[in-house]
Amino acid sequence: VFVAADYATELAGRYGGDAVVARAAAMLHDIADVKMAKRGKAHEAESRHMARELMKEVGFDNVQIQVVVDDALPYHSCHGDERPATLEGKILATADAMAHLQTDFYLHATWAFGGERTLADVKAWTLEKIRHGLDVKTFFEEVRAELRPSYELLRQLYSR
Ligand SMILES: [Fe+2]
Repeated sequence: VFVAADYATELAGRYGGDAVVARAAAMLHDIADVKMAKRGKAHEAESRHMARELMKEVGFDNVQIQVVVDDALPYHSCHGDERPATLEGKILATADAMAHLQTDFYLHATWAFGGERTLADVKAWTLEKIRHGLDVKTFFEEVRAELRPSYELLRQLYSR
């Protein structure tokens, strides 16, 4: 989360988004992790609820709260046809993909799935997720070019 938040701040500087809103979105996008395992819709709904309450509490205005809670959080994963509409929403999606492609995220995911999935399944899941991160969640052409070397290495590693 802190890695994604730093990328979100950096992207807001580069592309002209509201840096505080973009950072808040990144800090809050999985906030329900403090209460429950990350499985399905309940986690997402709880993250949005907690984000709304916390943002109200510290004085964000309604528009800023809407951008985070009604756009960035629900659409940053870019499932199916869903895409964030706001710049800060696109920044969160991109920052999340950057955090996944440029940290040990997939190694941890491999360990976490170790007990319940075969290695072949984990590799297939990873290959699809890195592709989705680069091609779908990354909204800025320049950033996609910057991420490509990390993507390529992970792709080769998980293809073996
Ligand atoms: Fe994330």
